[in-house]
Formats: sequence, structure tokens, C-alpha cells
Amino acid sequence: MKTEVAIVTGGIKGCGKEIVGQLVAQKVHVVTNYRKDTATAQQFETEMKKVGANVYTLQADMGNTDDVSRLFDFVKEKYGYLNYFVANAAATAFKPLLDIKPHHIEKTFAITITGFVLACQRCAELMKGQNGKIVAISGYDTHTYLPRHGILGAAKSALETLVKYFGVELASLGINVNAVNPGFLATTSTKIYMGDLYEAIKKANEQLTPVGGVTAGKEIADVVMFLLSEKAKWICGQTIRADGGLSHIQPLALPES
Ligand SMILES: NC(=O)c1ccc[n+]([C@@H]2O[C@H](COP(=O)([O-])OP(=O)(O)OC[C@H]3O[C@@H](n4cnc5c(N)ncnc54)[C@H](OP(=O)(O)O)[C@@H]3O)[C@@H](O)[C@H]2O)c1
Repeated sequence: MKTEVAIVTGGIKGCGKEIVGQLVAQKVHVVTNYRKDTATAQQFETEMKKVGANVYTLQADMGNTDDVSRLFDFVKEKYGYLNYFVANAAATAFKPLLDIKPHHIEKTFAITITGFVLACQRCAELMKGQNGKIVAISGYDTHTYLPRHGILGAAKSALETLVKYFGVELASLGINVNAVNPGFLATTSTKIYMGDLYEAIKKANEQLTPVGGVTAGKEIADVVMFLLSEKAKWICGQTIRADGGLSHIQPLALPES
């Protein structure tokens, strides 16, 4: 059987790492990238090699157009084609909108929007005849107010719109484009960013989420894998909320616990 090839952005930690793990379990060769944490990237690549997985970690900033090209050029030169693309990496300046400067907006949109558009254009080239699949990872800041998430929420909302448009425009090329919108993720970076508030926020999310608990990414990766499969062929340009029902809950309406 022909080797299947995936690009997963930001796949050395958090949710992206779970997605890479599930892809390599299906013998897919994965190219992933990171922004600056070379030590973790090298450690991850070594771990993957030890278990016989084909994973390549490249330093490539999704906010830099030359780096995005380099990531796809690597796949073009090594394999000549691509089956799956998962746009997972995200970064922003977490600040109230009144403190936001133009460069914060530019950087956030460069990663989430410009990087995604360029990547999808390269997918159109490399996924020809492959029944390719593209999945973007959005976030609950698109539909729920989260303090200091104004710019990222705006960028992710625009990302969901692009998913709709690419879904339609790439359908005739046999490429399926969708997104997953997770709720709270219990990842290392969430812990770092929330600091002392992390445990309390995690506990509140565990209590509020109707299906119970929080995810560190495994359940999100499960949904991504479904969207990367032929079983999801009839889903086109959609954003699937995978949040355990959290977005249905109005906290003030809950009885005191
Ligand atoms: N965390 C949450 O609560 C939450 C909730 C809903 C949705 N999401 C979304 O889920 C996705 C994954 O989140 P996560 O918490 O698992 O992420 P994470 O742990 O912060 O990991 C992000 C990875 O992306 C890489 N990255 C960041 N900016 C990059 C850039 N400009 N170019 C290339 N790589 C870059 C990082 O590289 P370095 O390690 O080198 O910095 C890191 O390896 C994101 O799209 C996020 O917006 C997160």
C-alpha cells in the first residue's frame, strides 16, 4: 500500500502531539513543525524513531510565509504528494483589546489566516489525485467570551469562515476541508498561560462539561481522525464543536454544588 503522508502544524506537544500519535499508529508518515522549542522537538523525533514511526520535526513559523513554503517544499521533495493537512499551531498575545498593538494583530492573523491560506494553496497542489483531507483547529473563543482572547477569537472566527470557503472551492479537487472547535484543553501551554488560576479553571470546566471531565487532546484527535477519514466525505466546510457539550451550558443557571 502506498505510504500516506501528513503535515500537522505544532505537533510536538499538546493537542497536535495527540493527532500525530494517532496518525503514526495508522502508519502515516508525519511532518510536523514548531516555532522555537527545538529541545522538545528533537526529543519527540527521537521518541518517534524509537517506536519505528516516521516523524520529521522542522522549525518553521506558520506566521512566516517563507517558512510555510519550506514546510510544504520538504514534503514535495521527499514524497511528491500529501494526503492530510492539520492546521493546529496557534499563538497570540493574550491581552485585553485595549492593550492590543498592531503587531499583535498582524502576528496572530499571519499564523492563523495567512499561513492557513498559503498552506491550503499548497495542499491543492500536493493533494491532486489523493482525496486529500484538511482539518483546522479552531477554539471556543469564537463563540464564548474568554478574557484576553479578543484577537485570537477574531482570527479563529475568520479561520472558520475560510474553512467554509475552502471546503466549497477545493471540493471539486476531491479535497475535503473541515474544522474542529474544542472547548477547554488541559495542555501544558494552557497551564503556563493560566498560571495560578489553572487548577481552579480546570476544575470548573470538569464540573460544567456535560459529558464530564476535560480533555488533554485525545478526544479532539479522535474527531480529527474521523474528519481525515473517507467516512467524513459528506461533511464539507463545517466546524464541529467537540467540547463535551460545554457550549450548551449557562453556568449561572446551574444549581449550587
Ligand atoms: N489550549 C486550549 O485550551 C485550547 C482550547 C481550544 C482550542 N485550542 C486550539 O488548539 C490548538 C492546539 O492548542 P494546544 O494548547 O495543544 O497548543 P500548544 O500546547 O500551545 O502547542 C502549540 C504548538 O504549536 C507550536 N506553534 C505555536 N506557534 C507556532 C507558529 N507560529 N508556527 C509553528 N508552530 C507554532 C508550538 O511550538 P513551540 O513549542 O516551539 O512554541 C507548539 O509546539 C491551537 O490551535 C489552539 O488555539 C486550544
